[in-house]
Amino acid sequence: MQTISLNTKDKISKIIIGEEFTNIKNYIDIDRTIVITDENVFKLYEKQFEGLKTIVIGTGEKIKTLQTIEYIIEKLIEFKADRKSFILGVGGGVVTDIAGFVSSIYLRGVEFGFVSTTLLGQVDASVGGKNGVNFKGLKNVIGVFNQPEFVICDISMLKTLPGREFRSGLAEMIKHGVIGDPSILEQLDEEYEKIISLDQETLEKLIYNSICVKSKIVSIDERESELRRILNFGHTVGHAIELAEDLTHGEAISIGMVAALGISVEKGYININVFIQIEKLLKKYGLPTDLPKDIGKIIEVIKFDKKNEKDGLNFILIKELGKAIIEKVDLDELEKLFTSVCKQQLLLGNVD
Ligand SMILES: NC(=O)c1ccc[n+]([C@@H]2O[C@H](COP(=O)([O-])OP(=O)(O)OC[C@H]3O[C@@H](n4cnc5c(N)ncnc54)[C@H](O)[C@@H]3O)[C@@H](O)[C@H]2O)c1
Ligand SMILES: [Zn+2]
Repeated sequence: MQTISLNTKDKISKIIIGEEFTNIKNYIDIDRTIVITDENVFKLYEKQFEGLKTIVIGTGEKIKTLQTIEYIIEKLIEFKADRKSFILGVGGGVVTDIAGFVSSIYLRGVEFGFVSTTLLGQVDASVGGKNGVNFKGLKNVIGVFNQPEFVICDISMLKTLPGREFRSGLAEMIKHGVIGDPSILEQLDEEYEKIISLDQETLEKLIYNSICVKSKIVSIDERESELRRILNFGHTVGHAIELAEDLTHGEAISIGMVAALGISVEKGYININVFIQIEKLLKKYGLPTDLPKDIGKIIEVIKFDKKNEKDGLNFILIKELGKAIIEKVDLDELEKLFTSVCKQQLLLGNVD
C-alpha cells in the first residue's frame, strides 16, 4: 500500500493505492456516510455495501446529467443527510465525477471521498479535483474544482473490469509516461505479463508512478491556467474521434497521442524512433493507433470544438520523452501535418 498527498491551496487530499474497499470502515464514520455507486459495481460487490446507506445510479456517460444529480439530491434528503454527512463515491470516473459534484453543491458542500474502481478512474478521473456533469451533449460543462478527503484505489476490484475498460486506463497511463515520467513506459514494456495478469504489486507501483505525474501537475496548477493543460496530451484529436468512431475514451486518446507524437516528429522535436516506440507500446496493449482515413472530418470537428481559439489551436506536443509543451498550431497547417503523419504511418507499416 502506498499513499500520495495531493496538496492544493485549501486541502491536503490523500490518495491511497492498494487499499481495499472492504476496509472502508477505517476511513469513514459509517453512520454519517452515504454511498453513491452505479448498478454494475453494486451488483458485483453487493456484499461489501451491506450496512451502508447506498444510492445506486445507472451506468455510463449518458447518466452524467443534471437529472441524475436531482435524483441523488432527492435520495440525500430522504436519508436526512445534513452538513455533517459524508458522501462516498464508489465506482469509475462517471460515479466519482458525479459524487464529487453533488457533494460540492448539496447544502453548499459536504465532505466526500472516493473508492476508485476502474484503472482510468484510479490514474486519472478520481485524482485532481475536477467534478461535474455533461449538459445537452456537451461534456463536463457544469462542474467545480473540489478535492476529496481521500481516494482509495482498490486494485483488487480491477479483476472484474472488462478488458476494454482496463486498456482504456492503460492509455492514460501511457500518456503520463510520455508527458512526465518515461520510467512508466519502460515498466509497461518490460512487465507486460504481470500487468495483464493484474499482479497486485506491479500494478500498485505503476498506478503510484502514474498518479505522481498527475498530482505533481495539479498541485502546481489546480485550476488549469497553464501547466495542467499538458494532461490533455492526445485529447484534441482524441475527443474529435471518440464519439464518431464509437471508441472508448482510452482508445480515442491512443490514436490522439499517435497524432500528437507524429506532429512532434514533423516539427523536428522528437526522433521518429520515439514515435515508433510509443506506437509499438500502444499496440502491444491492444490499443488502436491508426488515424481515421477521413482527416478532413477530424479537422472539422476540432475546428468546431475549438472555435474560440481564434489565432490557432493550442496543441500539446512532445519535446522529448517526459517533456510536454503547449504550442499554437495554425488550423490550416493542421491538415498538412495530419496528412504527413498518415504517410509516415503507412511507410512505417510497410517496413514492418
Ligand atoms: N475528473 C477528471 O479529471 C476526469 C479525468 C478523466 C476522465 N473523467 C471522466 O471519467 C469518466 C470515465 O471514467 P471510467 O472510464 O472509469 O468510466 P465508467 O465510470 O463509466 O466505468 C466504466 C464501466 O466499468 C464499470 N465498472 C466500474 N468499476 C468496475 C469494476 N471494478 N468491475 C467491473 N465493472 C466496473 C462501470 O459500471 C462502467 O460500465 C468520463 O465521464 C470522463 O469524463 C474525469
Ligand atoms: Zn483522458
